[in-house]
Amino acid sequence: MGRQHVNHNDIAQFAQDKVNLPKDKADEYRAQARRLREKLDGYLAEHPDFTLKKMLVAGSLAKGTALRSLNDIDVACYISGADAPHDVRSLLNYLAERLRKAFPNFSSDQVKPQTYSVTVSFRGSGLDVDVVPILYKGNSDWYGDLVSQEDGSFLETNIPLHLEFIRKRKQAQQDHFAQVVRLVKFWARIAKSEREDFRFKSFMIELILSHLCDQGLDFSDYPEALQHFFTYVARSNMWERIVFDDCYAPSTVGTFSGPVQIIDPVNAKNNVSRLYSEAQADAIVDAALEAGDAVDSALAATTKEKTVYYWQKVFGSSFQA
Ligand SMILES: Nc1ncnc2c1ncn2[C@@H]1O[C@H](COP(=O)(O)OP(=O)(O)OP(=O)(O)O)[C@@H](O)[C@H]1O
Ligand SMILES: [Mg+2]
Repeated sequence: MGRQHVNHNDIAQFAQDKVNLPKDKADEYRAQARRLREKLDGYLAEHPDFTLKKMLVAGSLAKGTALRSLNDIDVACYISGADAPHDVRSLLNYLAERLRKAFPNFSSDQVKPQTYSVTVSFRGSGLDVDVVPILYKGNSDWYGDLVSQEDGSFLETNIPLHLEFIRKRKQAQQDHFAQVVRLVKFWARIAKSEREDFRFKSFMIELILSHLCDQGLDFSDYPEALQHFFTYVARSNMWERIVFDDCYAPSTVGTFSGPVQIIDPVNAKNNVSRLYSEAQADAIVDAALEAGDAVDSALAATTKEKTVYYWQKVFGSSFQA
């Protein structure tokens, strides 16, 4: 049977070699972000009225769920003040102008407004830092309006609470939760490269896996954990609403119109999957069905060649065992 040829340990090894961002790289990028943050802190100490209040590593690098293919460092920047512009374009220009002030050693072409963020490029080594604005009313709990990287709208949410939410699941299944997140994200990248219009946001993947984790599914066997995920997606058709009780009572969640409803664990009014159409949900379900079949076939295959062939349907041709 296929497990003789490719088992949990082989998937774990594949993850180490091809999927995960190596730890030394992750440390290097976090240090790069930390230096920027410290520069801002230094500037703030001398200019307490400065409207950029805090920079925070956000995204996969902060959560420990980054892939090897990581191509920028996500940093959230809290902007206070009724003075900050509230339309996205002007806000990004404003943020860029302020960052140039706080980082005088950076030339102005190293700080560039993009569509929904501002990139800060380092000369020489490192990745670009992608600074995403959060309009913030000065609340001590770090709730604020995050500029959506999908469509530029403002989303009320809380990055530190997201990090804590994920940390909880990582603690519930040490190593395995984060590893399965990375494997599923890797699968989604392959699926995206093979299908037009396929999209599946990393945060949605993390929330679906968090839901399965909370239901008590065991992630310690990777082929099985992947199968749990694919089965859930196929069975739910992406129509089942996912709600968490970490920060509010699930009964307070109102109605949403979109076909996919994965509710932000820190804001009952924010549907993280708001922009997913029925066709996009169907594409995710189709891809999960195919992947689930491939895992079944891999586990039942009688030769190594066939086993690898089926795992490559899930993870692409870089999968070798
Ligand atoms: N719709 C949303 N509502 C609230 N917060 C969001 C939303 N989308 C993203 N975020 C915040 O942004 C963070 C980054 O999520 P995102 O899905 O962009 O990618 P990521 O975790 O950085 O993964 P990768 O960059 O590897 O694809 C999330 O952890 C969350 O804090
Ligand atoms: Mg990211």
